[in-house]
Amino acid sequence: MQDLIKYKLKENVTLKNRFVLAPMTTYSGNPDLTLSDEEEVYYSARGKEFGIVITAATAISLHAQAFTNQISAKSDFYLPSLKRLADAIKSGGAKAILQLHHGGRMNALGLYENQDIVSASSIKAERSNAATPRALETLEVYDTIEDFRQAMIRAIKSGFDGIELHGANTYLIQQFFSPHSNRRSDEFGGSLEKRLTFPLMLVDMALNTRNEFASEDFIIGYRLSPEELEEPGITLEDTTRLIEELSKREIDYIHLSLSSYKQSSSRNKEEKAPIINILQKHNINNLPIIGVGGIETKREALEALSLGFDLVAIGKAALSDAMVVSNILNDKPIKKVIDEDSLLPKDMKKRISEWSYLKDKGYTVK
Ligand SMILES: Cc1cc2nc3c(=O)[nH]c(=O)nc-3n(C[C@H](O)[C@H](O)[C@H](O)COP(=O)(O)O)c2cc1C
Repeated sequence: MQDLIKYKLKENVTLKNRFVLAPMTTYSGNPDLTLSDEEEVYYSARGKEFGIVITAATAISLHAQAFTNQISAKSDFYLPSLKRLADAIKSGGAKAILQLHHGGRMNALGLYENQDIVSASSIKAERSNAATPRALETLEVYDTIEDFRQAMIRAIKSGFDGIELHGANTYLIQQFFSPHSNRRSDEFGGSLEKRLTFPLMLVDMALNTRNEFASEDFIIGYRLSPEELEEPGITLEDTTRLIEELSKREIDYIHLSLSSYKQSSSRNKEEKAPIINILQKHNINNLPIIGVGGIETKREALEALSLGFDLVAIGKAALSDAMVVSNILNDKPIKKVIDEDSLLPKDMKKRISEWSYLKDKGYTVK
């Protein structure tokens, strides 16, 4: 049985346990998009529990902003806010990872003033009320990479232990990888290999930025969604290529965004093997892989490790139960009622109380 306590992520970086707070948008930043006091409380509590805390998706530019009151890293004005966030997480002994995000075509018209809704190509997402994005010009794609770089430098300056590139959940990085949203004919699109260009340029930019501005201990992670349901959409074959390329580079982990850690392919129902088993074969250099999706007990956490994940991320269970890791490690049932003791920002609590899928999973909001 693999140990859930202590994990050496890399030279000089040992985590207090294998649990990761999944990145979760709080909808609770201040109106100027700095960290609110309530968010600070939320992160301080989770920092005491988890080996790694990944922050909510943090916007790298004005055009990146996807959610109401989403915290920002778009200029140096945000350095003190980012420092408070890193300090809140680290004060409990967790490693603090800033999730760098651009919403692309998923952004809502009118949510932010003077915002351009942009993507790889001018193709709407397949959902109601989706805006038609403007395709970024080639030079603007390079500018966007520069925005990511500047945000990463701010993460380093504010004391974060690492960054995660948010290449999952249909946002901009994924939009460049997807044959649905990327129909470009320049160096950023056309074939699978060209659809890899933007994600891999970002990764290479992050590696160079670490060399230039941080120590080797600085953690670089990449989050991805292995499949899309759209036609055309990202297939597991596409993702195996991405994993092969990622694992050739000196990043520190790959984070699979899944609704269940043991999930099998949604596109190919004949294929029953868990996605982790399929992708792992292409992880040439055996990078650590984070799994997520429905983990609520010690048995499930251990099962995730035995399937091949190295670290387990927890989302919803960490919203209701501020002591979720202690409870899991002690084999105690987690608390599934979201109340004052959950230490959640009130706007986040309000927002998630409207989500039926939380209720479906047995969570209640008081
Ligand atoms: C309220 C909420 C906000 C989320 N925000 C983000 C986010 O900012 N970035 C991200 O990559 N995933 C986000 N997710 C997805 C989670 O990181 C996680 O993958 C998902 O909840 C499945 O894990 P779970 O079953 O343990 O909740 C969010 C999920 C929830 C419930």
